[in-house]
Amino acid sequence: MAILKIENLHAKVEGKEILKGVSLTIKGGETHAIMGPNGTGKSTLASVIMGHPRYEVTEGSITLDGEDVLEMEVDERARAGLFLAMQSPAEVPGVTNSDFIKTAMNARLDEDNKLSLFKFIRSYDKAVSELKMSEDLPHRYLNEGFSGGEKKRNEILQMKMLKPSIAILDEIDSGLDVDALKVVGDNVTEMKGQDLGLLLITHYQRLLDYISADTVHVMMQGRIVKSGGVELMKKIDTEGYEWIKDELGIEDERVITEEDEERIMLGSCATKEALEK
Ligand SMILES: Nc1ncnc2c1ncn2[C@@H]1O[C@H](COP(=O)(O)OP(=O)(O)OP(=O)(O)O)[C@@H](O)[C@H]1O
Ligand SMILES: [Mg+2]
Repeated sequence: MAILKIENLHAKVEGKEILKGVSLTIKGGETHAIMGPNGTGKSTLASVIMGHPRYEVTEGSITLDGEDVLEMEVDERARAGLFLAMQSPAEVPGVTNSDFIKTAMNARLDEDNKLSLFKFIRSYDKAVSELKMSEDLPHRYLNEGFSGGEKKRNEILQMKMLKPSIAILDEIDSGLDVDALKVVGDNVTEMKGQDLGLLLITHYQRLLDYISADTVHVMMQGRIVKSGGVELMKKIDTEGYEWIKDELGIEDERVITEEDEERIMLGSCATKEALEK
């Protein structure tokens, strides 16, 4: 069973520290949910796990089954079993949806074990129908002109085909209508039966009506500040985040950077000066 272990992870983008000490362990078969106000570092955590080149890890570690993930290239991470369904999947004109998935699948197999076209089409068609997707999507360019909900479903299609051991779903529920949410939820739940470790990033408890979670974490200021059971998410759903901020003495939950602080200071000095005149 896979174990993804994140310890005291710090990461920067363009010189600004966004992640400030994230620790989290996800085992195969477990589902963790991360919530948190906007701009607190949730998607950044997902990007850093997958190896997005814009983010620089400055401290801490990520291992998958004891292997150093931070030493792996992006494609190696995917081959090792990590998967990310992005909050805003990119459009890739010129590459068809089915070619993209086939290339990604073949990249995970050795030279002698490459997938036959027949096998690929059969499992692809099965996944398309299980996700109740329209039949022309495979032949269209990756995400180009896809509706918001189609893009999200397409991320799950890739996940079904790639069969990761650890999957991160970043706001998979946003943009899905109620029926689509159920379809996606059923498909993800089915994969959970195969020892999949899941990290769900979401703003709403509703997602957990479709995909049950074991643990809920709250992210603020670039780190996990609180963890609990599903009741924690229920409480946030009805009461918001203020009580957590009060409890922990957090004034601003966002990832505040030195630059921001400087700007705020300069701004208030300028206002003071103007007032004094
Ligand atoms: N590539 C980048 N360049 C500049 N700033 C970035 C970059 N990536 C993230 N940030 C900043 O880091 C902070 C955290 O962003 P992130 O996308 O991780 O937030 P989030 O918790 O996922 O928020 P949301 O709930 O709105 O999706 C934001 O202030 C964002 O602007
Ligand atoms: Mg986000």
